[in-house]
Amino acid sequence: MNITVLYGTETGNAEMLAEDVMAELEGEHDVECSNLSDFAPDAFDARRLYLIVCSSYGDGELPASAQPFADALQANMPDLTGVHFGIFGLGDTEYEETFGFGSKTLSELLSARGAVQIGERITHDASGSDMAEDLAFPWAAQIVALAEEKIGETV
Ligand SMILES: Cc1cc2nc3c(=O)[nH]c(=O)nc-3n(C[C@H](O)[C@H](O)[C@H](O)COP(=O)(O)O)c2cc1C
Repeated sequence: MNITVLYGTETGNAEMLAEDVMAELEGEHDVECSNLSDFAPDAFDARRLYLIVCSSYGDGELPASAQPFADALQANMPDLTGVHFGIFGLGDTEYEETFGFGSKTLSELLSARGAVQIGERITHDASGSDMAEDLAFPWAAQIVALAEEKIGETV
């Protein structure tokens, strides 16, 4: 399967995790990884699966590297029909009112443009006891399995 791992980050955690997810999948799949700051919404390709890793910052806002992408999604209103994505959040329950809001916002923006979310959005809690990769690797494997089942060789 052709997969693009996209990340939105403020201080680099999502970037490290995205690179780890890419390394984990690379043996069996053709995987690319990109910062959302280097990715324009019109670059989506319906033949690929997109795995998005995104933190939350400020008061439940998107991290800096995802902001221009989100602005472009809102301003240009691209039609993302046929695009499939899974999304994984990085957050901290110390921010209990806005836990995981960055990835939530991003998933809502993509869905509003017609993209289809595969599987559940889950969020790693930096105040919890799990390592992010211990949640993200099974999440990625599950999204890829669901994508293969759902859309087969078309992505
Ligand atoms: C100033 C600041 C604000 C934050 N705000 C939130 C928030 O509103 N919700 C949340 O779930 N996590 C919040 N976090 C936690 C980060 O999302 C978490 O530390 C994450 O691992 C950062 O990933 P990054 O380095 O890729 O940006 C915040 C962290 C900091 C330092």
